[in-house]
Amino acid sequence: EKGTYPHYMLKEIDEQPVVIRRIIEKYRNDDGGLTVDQDIINAVNDADRIYIIAAGTSYHAGLVGKQFIENWAKIPVEVHISSEFSYNMPLLSEKPLFIFISQSGETADSRAVLVQVKEFGHKCLTITNVPGSTLSRESDYTLLLHAGPEIAVASTKAYTAQLAVLSILAAVAAYGKGRSLEFDLTKELGIVANAMDVLCGQKEEMEAIASEYLSTTRNAFFIGRSVDYYVGLEGALKLKEISYIQAEGFAGGELKHGTIALIENGTPIIALATQEHVNLSIRGNVKEVVARGANPCIISMKGLEEEDDRFVIPSIQPQLAPLVAVVPLQIISYYAALHRGCDVDKPRNLAKSVTVE
Ligand code: F6R
Repeated sequence: EKGTYPHYMLKEIDEQPVVIRRIIEKYRNDDGGLTVDQDIINAVNDADRIYIIAAGTSYHAGLVGKQFIENWAKIPVEVHISSEFSYNMPLLSEKPLFIFISQSGETADSRAVLVQVKEFGHKCLTITNVPGSTLSRESDYTLLLHAGPEIAVASTKAYTAQLAVLSILAAVAAYGKGRSLEFDLTKELGIVANAMDVLCGQKEEMEAIASEYLSTTRNAFFIGRSVDYYVGLEGALKLKEISYIQAEGFAGGELKHGTIALIENGTPIIALATQEHVNLSIRGNVKEVVARGANPCIISMKGLEEEDDRFVIPSIQPQLAPLVAVVPLQIISYYAALHRGCDVDKPRNLAKSVTVE
């Protein structure tokens, strides 16, 4: 039930800190560390390559998950859109592991891939919010998101739960290979949850950003580099699906290869700057679009902030920044849709689970 909330989406955004803390509890072992079933650790560490298969928001989570797995467990990962994979399958490695990411566990495009790869005898792991869902039942292994029912069509808490579970899987796979992380993931996920709490208390600032940049615009662009690019893709999807503003996410360095032609006087550009190693270059990209008349809204992270930044998220472990940086984008999208009179929880033309191919 949505209780005192006007919309499920807002309620589900606010639930994110609790969901992260619940995931920490569910995946905690007796020694206070994080773990998953030994069968899953073995399956991940036996694989010479991981193929992540997903759609929409879950695909965006997969892009970030690839970074966790490659950086920490050092296993190569490919991320594929399920509807493309079925018809245009890449050459597979000798010992692949397939990871399906699906909030509902019912997405037909993803199931089609599952059926195909099972026929080849490949191992499959599903990361889902719904125990007993089709993808979960038909996979060899399941990891649950423990996010509670997600009712709003626009996915919010499932995305951050997917990132948290992927981070745990990647860390556990790394430990299984005798590698350690440079930080304590349990502790850093706790800090992520606290940062989400802070952001959920700053909705007025995000509503002001929605009014200032998005109340009448036809389009909006999100730019970022590295993981900020992936968060920008998710921010753009959130905005377009509920507010009907044409929104796109671009890699900062790719603008000059064509996209910059779209910039007009006043075009809103939401730029993410949470990653130190690309901070200078993304800020350079902002200058390029500002010189063409764009209206920039820079969202940065404490420690990297500059005077003109519109919003600064709390400081967190940089590799986990996507879990936190997405929250203002979700809230800004919510208010943009609300101000434009859209049906936030049930956007036109969309269904919560897409059970047709
Ligand atoms: C976006 C959204 C969709 C879903 C996609 C996959 O907010 O909800 O893009 O993420 O349809 O759905 P699942 O994760 O259930 O497979």
